Amino acid sequence: MDTPQLLLDTLVYLLGLNFALRAGNDHKNLRWTNPQLSLVSSKTGEESLRYTEDISKTNQGGLKSRKIKRKVVFAFPNTTEPRRCLIRCYKLDVQHCPQRKPDAFYLRPLTKPKGDVWFTSTPVGINTLRDTVGRLCAKAGLP
Ligand SMILES: *[C@@H]1O[C@H](CO)[C@@H](O)[C@H](O)[C@H]1NC(C)=O
Repeated sequence: MDTPQLLLDTLVYLLGLNFALRAGNDHKNLRWTNPQLSLVSSKTGEESLRYTEDISKTNQGGLKSRKIKRKVVFAFPNTTEPRRCLIRCYKLDVQHCPQRKPDAFYLRPLTKPKGDVWFTSTPVGINTLRDTVGRLCAKAGLP
């Protein structure tokens, strides 16, 4: 991952692809506390990234008594294409965040890394996230 911007783009792309995140909002809602994303290890030591959907999304307009099933999806490492490996990108992101960070998952990238820090402590705005999703879809030839 050469630049902070590229890491951010790749994360938006791979998280959207693996967890079927809808443009904009689902990305914007990703956060660090009570996170939807967490790194898990199997007994054999294989790592995966688990996505747990927010309750509010499935519960919209639903009955209180209804049993709520949240969508849980796992993503596994891509060993043939490390640049396209979500697990690797996620770990890079965690490693390169500033120490004091807001609760938003996506932070504005620095133009140039400052040592280990690749991101500012300002969240990426919803419009920028929408644009990023659009730009990536256009590049991939998707509607
Ligand atoms: C790894 O990434 C490549 C390139 O994006 C993709 O074609 C392939 O399906 C991926 N493999 C897995 C196991 O995700």
